[in-house]
Amino acid sequence: MGQTRVYTVEDKEFWEGLYAGGKTAWDLGQPAPPLVTFLKSPYALKPGRMAVLGCGNGHECLMFAQAGFEVTGVDFSKSAIQSTTRKLHQAGLLGTKGYLLERDLFKMHEYDHYYDYVLDHCTFCAIDPARRQSYAWTVHDLLKPGGKFVSLWWVRPDRQGGPPFALHKSEIFELFDKKFKIEIAYEPQDSVKERKGQEFLTVMSAR
Ligand SMILES: C[S@@+](CC[C@H](N)C(=O)[O-])C[C@H]1O[C@@H](n2cnc3c(N)ncnc32)[C@H](O)[C@@H]1O
Repeated sequence: MGQTRVYTVEDKEFWEGLYAGGKTAWDLGQPAPPLVTFLKSPYALKPGRMAVLGCGNGHECLMFAQAGFEVTGVDFSKSAIQSTTRKLHQAGLLGTKGYLLERDLFKMHEYDHYYDYVLDHCTFCAIDPARRQSYAWTVHDLLKPGGKFVSLWWVRPDRQGGPPFALHKSEIFELFDKKFKIEIAYEPQDSVKERKGQEFLTVMSAR
């Protein structure tokens, strides 16, 4: 008798199932306000080549592409890629400022040292915690030397289960300090109501 496979967060089928079932509670329906504010701030990055890891429905891809960045949305869920493709197409940015890779973000090494920036919003907290150090190295590999990793972290040390999984702020420094220099780190004041006091924004450069 065949056995039924149980999918985990490491499987694209797990995420595809959530998209298909409309169980995308993480999706804000807009770019995260702290990233919107950051993009307009004096610390804003100048446009360059950016990978958005686990791009989901592509709100941040669209925002950065509209701001002049050459953005590649990466996701292994077909639904996420289709949704982001539609957004970029409707904005007239597909193929000029917006690109997609339907890929496992841990396996895209032909793009090593290709990006000026990597962006994470709600992807790090969604991967298996056992893979967090590997995620940090993957981000480092994707960046050019001196390239920057921009991340809006969802910090919830006491969370049980997941995704999203528990994250303590100190873990960010432990995992990334070895190969990155933290340049900016603050608690944004404009998180959506449900995430107030639980977000942390960092910009770090690859050593
Ligand atoms: C919690 S969602 C966040 C989506 C989006 N960043 C947002 O904030 O709305 C996590 C996304 O990461 C994708 N993902 C998870 N593991 C992945 C992997 N190994 N490779 C590529 N995409 C992955 C999932 O398919 C999902 O779209």
